[in-house]
Amino acid sequence: MSTPPALSLRALRKAYGRVVAVDGLDLEVRSGECFGLLGPNGAGKTTTIEICEGLTAADSGDVLVLGRGWRDDATWLRQRLGIQLQETQFAEKLTVRETVRLFRSFYARGRTVDDMLALVSLGEKRDARVGGLSGGQKQRLALACALVGDPDLVFLDEPTTGLDPQSRRQLWELVEGLRADGRTIVLTTHYMEEAERLCDRVAIVDRGRVIALGTPRELVASLEAEQMVTATVRGIAPDEDARERWLATVCALPGVLGARATATEDGEVATELRAATVAAVLPPLLAAIEGRGLALAALATHAPTLEDVFVARTGRALRDG
Ligand SMILES: Nc1ncnc2c1ncn2[C@@H]1O[C@H](COP(=O)(O)OP(=O)(O)O)[C@@H](O)[C@H]1O
Ligand SMILES: [Mg+2]
Repeated sequence: MSTPPALSLRALRKAYGRVVAVDGLDLEVRSGECFGLLGPNGAGKTTTIEICEGLTAADSGDVLVLGRGWRDDATWLRQRLGIQLQETQFAEKLTVRETVRLFRSFYARGRTVDDMLALVSLGEKRDARVGGLSGGQKQRLALACALVGDPDLVFLDEPTTGLDPQSRRQLWELVEGLRADGRTIVLTTHYMEEAERLCDRVAIVDRGRVIALGTPRELVASLEAEQMVTATVRGIAPDEDARERWLATVCALPGVLGARATATEDGEVATELRAATVAAVLPPLLAAIEGRGLALAALATHAPTLEDVFVARTGRALRDG
């Protein structure tokens, strides 16, 4: 028997009143992969995975988790899923060990509490009350609770949001360990570097739909850009028409695959463009700036990232929300 997909979503839809949180979303997650839902705040990531977790009912669409449906197989599914919610409200007065033991009691089979505490480096905190833990420690506790039933499929909703860089790296290493074990992981994030580092495949989600799907490398390659170039230009009139005219000029330059122009706080225009090659783009760009009596205030380049994929497909930045 072949292993069914870990997740299979078809034409999924969920609205809260007039707000359409999930708008015809299709997705398939393979067994054994670390899959990322990457998108800005409000994109519908949490709603999507809460539907998969059996916590929210979809308005319409098909949901299969480990080949089964929530309607007929809820008890079976609950034993096989590990869930870390975007915000977990633990009982503050319980100790770390009591909390993991409580979660262990929900599962017929699973790992020992001490094993889990060792895994997430909370052994020394076993008798501490949950209320006194740091943000990073709480997230590691949430991960221990998600894993204590030895799940076939683990959902992690924004596992590192709000953490300091060191705690974030610690969480990343834990997820990398789970991935190396071949466990199926579905995580959501609005940090593109997190998706790039942790995920075998990524679905970029915007406004309740999947707008791009592939390995991080494939998605970045789809831009066909060697470099992203940001030229900050001074002297463009501070109105949208002038910016649009400048943008049209830039888009017509040889070697430019796409561009976006945004006003900076200093009255300059940040011109971000996808360059087939920097060598092809820079001479005509500089000539266009000089030919219009403008000035180059700053120039920067970077290798394309998933953030650039999002910008190229939506015209907005991920962090704009
Ligand atoms: N319980 C709810 N009631 C009303 N609106 C909601 C609720 N949950 C989410 N939404 C709305 O649905 C949209 C998607 O939210 P969410 O799934 O939380 O996105 P994400 O996790 O990507 O930030 C947002 O516009 C959000 O405000
Ligand atoms: Mg969310």
